[in-house]
Amino acid sequence: MTTAALIVAAGKGERSGSAVPKQFAPLGGKPLIAHSVDAFRGHPAIGRIAIVVGAGQQRQLEAALGERRADIVAVGGAQRHDSVRAGLEALGLADDVLIHDAARPGLRAAVIDRLLAALATHDGAVPALPVVDTLARDAGGLGDTVERAGLVRVQTPQAFRFDAIMTSHRGWNGGIATDDAQMARAAGFAVATVAGDPALDKITHPDDWARMERLLAPTMTVRTGSGFDVHRFEAGRPLWLGGIAIPHDKGLAGHSDADVALHAITDALLGAVAQGDIGDHFPPSDPQWKGAASDRFLAYAAELVRGRGGRIDHIDLTIICEAPRVGPHREAMRARIADLLQLRSAQVSVKATTTERLGFTGRGEGIAAQAIATVRLPEEENP
Ligand code: CTP
Ligand code: MG
Repeated sequence: MTTAALIVAAGKGERSGSAVPKQFAPLGGKPLIAHSVDAFRGHPAIGRIAIVVGAGQQRQLEAALGERRADIVAVGGAQRHDSVRAGLEALGLADDVLIHDAARPGLRAAVIDRLLAALATHDGAVPALPVVDTLARDAGGLGDTVERAGLVRVQTPQAFRFDAIMTSHRGWNGGIATDDAQMARAAGFAVATVAGDPALDKITHPDDWARMERLLAPTMTVRTGSGFDVHRFEAGRPLWLGGIAIPHDKGLAGHSDADVALHAITDALLGAVAQGDIGDHFPPSDPQWKGAASDRFLAYAAELVRGRGGRIDHIDLTIICEAPRVGPHREAMRARIADLLQLRSAQVSVKATTTERLGFTGRGEGIAAQAIATVRLPEEENP
């Protein structure tokens, strides 16, 4: 049993308001067509993937796919059904085929499962949703109401026995067909309906982009991480604190530049994504970190959060020492930390306190810092 996927992406997207053909425009961080390719590639029943693009669009397709690969790329025609036909001819042979619009990014495995199950007993199957709004004719003003009962909205992918849909296309002479199921039915094949999915609605008009982006946005959950660090003072070293150099009669001892504040924030970020601590990622025993600017540790931790689809919402830092006075440098630290984390200053809080001359900070032996990071992670990153 071989099941192929055929994605048509040869349209101009003239109604979509997009500067490039809509199938190549980004939605939720990747090109529209990449959503469907990823959905098919992620389904174990799907073998080859064919993509149909407009003449001269092969380069644009390659750029949009990035690391992804199409097994077959064909060139489409003036109408959607011309493009499907070109794709079917290019595929040549398969048991079943799922024909899908690149303009429908919200394909989920459950729909593919339902379609393939229906193909066991039918020549074709389509996802369909009930019509819930009142339907009426547009006659300049409001025209007659159209009976809604018994109507459905038909989506893609549409699944067919390959030979059935090939026969239907080769025999078609009914003018412009907006989908393949109508051609299969015209050729006498039985087409089943399965439950459709609102996420499969097509991007057609400018308003559809934002609506679909919201619909497909992963659910984010909030996580917090805390970090704490201490470094002792050492004469003859520059003092780095909160990402900036501060004039002082001594600096902090340590393997790197010993920026105790950035270390606390780095650990807070690592804590929020449960990825160990700064020592795991930058072992003090490793000579490459000798004298290193702690900027790098912080940027690395931020990258780790973003690499999991996460967003950093807020940093709250407390610096604990008798001297130097932090107040005069607070705004510069906020700006620098915000810059390193690609945040706005308003998302970075820097506070300072003494310990009333108690303990090691009170005796002026060193500086302590603690930080709390608030991040949002996609739900699938939260086991
Ligand atoms: N399509 C195609 N070949 C065509 C026309 C359309 O492959 N000659 C594809 C589109 O790329 C899209 C799907 O068919 O994935 C649905 O068509 P539609 O939403 O109408 O897209 P466009 O034709 O690109 O948009 P418009 O009609 O607004 O120009
Ligand atoms: Mg069109």
